[in-house]
Amino acid sequence: MTIAYLNGQYLPLSEAKISPMDRGFLFGDGVYEVIPSYQGKTVAAQYHLDRLRHSLEGIQLCIALSDEDLSGILQLLIERNGGGDLGIYLQITRGVAEKRQHAFPEHISPTLFAYTFPINAPSDGATETATCFTTVTRTDGRWDRCHIKSTALLGNVLHMMEAINDGAEEVLLFNESNLLTEAAACNVFIVKDGQIYTPELDHQKLPGVTRRLCLELLEEHTDWRVHVGPVTREAVMSAQEVWLSSSTKELAPVIAIDGKPVGDGKPGRYWSQAQRLFHLYRFDKR
Ligand SMILES: Cc1ncc(COP(=O)(O)O)c(C=O)c1O
Repeated sequence: MTIAYLNGQYLPLSEAKISPMDRGFLFGDGVYEVIPSYQGKTVAAQYHLDRLRHSLEGIQLCIALSDEDLSGILQLLIERNGGGDLGIYLQITRGVAEKRQHAFPEHISPTLFAYTFPINAPSDGATETATCFTTVTRTDGRWDRCHIKSTALLGNVLHMMEAINDGAEEVLLFNESNLLTEAAACNVFIVKDGQIYTPELDHQKLPGVTRRLCLELLEEHTDWRVHVGPVTREAVMSAQEVWLSSSTKELAPVIAIDGKPVGDGKPGRYWSQAQRLFHLYRFDKR
C-alpha cells in the first residue's frame, strides 16, 4: 500500500482527497518535483529543492515550509513506503479557493501533496542491458515558460502522444529557429566527432537536475570537450550518439530518430561511460 503525504498528514494514497476547487485541478496552478531514491538514499535532493524554490518564485507562490521541513517529509515518506527504489512525486499548488477566478485569490493555503512510486534501479552503463529509446521530431508547441516545472503539462502530454502515435517513445523538440530545446519529459545531449553538446538553459527548457549532474560529472571525471549552447537540427540528425536525461532514467540512449538509426542504432560508448559515472558517483551530490 502506497503511503502519501497531504497537507501535514501521512495516509494511504487511496484515502488522499483534494477538493475540485483546488487551483491545481482547475488551472494547473502548481509546481512539482520528481526525486529518485535508491535503497533509502535520495539523489541530489538539494538540487531538486533548489529548483522547486525557483519554480515557486516563477509562479509567485510562497510556502511556510523550509527545506529542512521538506526534506523531513521526503525522508518519512521513503521510510513509510519501505525504502526500496522509489520515485517521490512532490506537488505544491496554490490551494483551494471558494470561487473559480483567474487572479490569485488572497488568504488561501497551498496544497502540498507527495507520494512514492516504484522505479527501476538505474543502469550501470552496460550496453547490453540499456533501456533504449526511439524518438520522433516536432516543432516545440509548448508555452514560453518551460523553465518553470509547472504541473500544467498539457503541451508536453500532447507532444508525448505524437511520439506514441508514431510508434516512438519520446519526441525531440525544435524551436522556430530549428534549434533543439528538449524532449517531452527529458533534456537532451548529443555526441558529435567525440564531443558532447547540450542546449543552453533558457525559458524554452526545464533546467534538469540530471542535466546538471551530468555536466558536473563529465567536468569532474573526464577530459571530454563539452559544449553548452545552440544545437541545430542538422547536428542532431547527424549525431553519433543522442542521450535523454531525466531523474528516473538518468541517461538513456536514443537509438532512432524519425525511423532512422542514430549512429549504428545501438547504445554508444560515450553513453556507456557517462552512465557509468552516474553509477559510481550519483550519491556524491546530496
Ligand atoms: C520537460 C522536461 N525536461 C527535462 C526533464 C528532466 O529533468 P530532471 O533531470 O530534473 O528530472 C523533465 C523531467 O521530468 C521534463 O519533464
